[in-house]
Amino acid sequence: MRTFLIAGNWKMNAGPSEAGKLAKEIAGTWKGKTFSSEALICPPFVSIAAVSKEFEGTQFKVGAQNVHTEDNGAYTGEISTSMLKDANCEYVIVGHSERREYFHETSELVAQKGKKVIDDGLKAIVCVGEVLEERKAGKHEDVVKEQVNAVLDLLDGDVSDQFVIAYEPVWAIGTGETATPEQAQEMHKFIRSLLTEKFGDDISQKIRILYGGSMKPENSEELLSQTDVDGGLIGGASLKADSFSKIIEISESI
Ligand code: 13P
Repeated sequence: MRTFLIAGNWKMNAGPSEAGKLAKEIAGTWKGKTFSSEALICPPFVSIAAVSKEFEGTQFKVGAQNVHTEDNGAYTGEISTSMLKDANCEYVIVGHSERREYFHETSELVAQKGKKVIDDGLKAIVCVGEVLEERKAGKHEDVVKEQVNAVLDLLDGDVSDQFVIAYEPVWAIGTGETATPEQAQEMHKFIRSLLTEKFGDDISQKIRILYGGSMKPENSEELLSQTDVDGGLIGGASLKADSFSKIIEISESI
């Protein structure tokens, strides 16, 4: 019942020229073919327009990697939801572990951003995940519960169409090490139980939970085959047109 979401997070890579080229390549790999998964690329802010232009008339969607909680005003360097809508974005990633770590974003701030995105009619991909020490100490579920519940506390009603969670164990990001399919499924199932507590079974079954952390063509089939894994948030492998397209193709076969 849940449509796979295959999302690329380009992080701080690809300015407008390079991003336009890469987007064209990605779209080109699907020329004349359609897919039933949803596919999304989140480039840096300055490259959104270039990517959006190349994706015109294709199934590929564009999103952003961050947003501010205010509509406009004296917030130098920030970008608002209305600007992202105007720039053709449909999704916004919030609370990526790199933002939590390097920009000191707390679960409360991430929750406010997620709510703002949803209130303003965009779709939020809220990232959660534990660091290695937390997993080793057996605290991974507690950490993820705190991060997820901070957002759930601010949400009400059926948000299933606008709310996506991405489980990204920090130790698996950019390291080449992935969670095993069993570890991923265990955490995704746990996250779904938190969603069920909050929203009930009907709504929780509609909310997508993505896996992120060194997902690539070679491991995506096993990960995407897990019951509660509804797509991927892909960093490195989304910067190569053939890898990203291959993951979409694999999602189609599941
Ligand atoms: P990698 O796929 O490069 O590990 O990055 C994952 C990620 O952080 C996506 O948001």
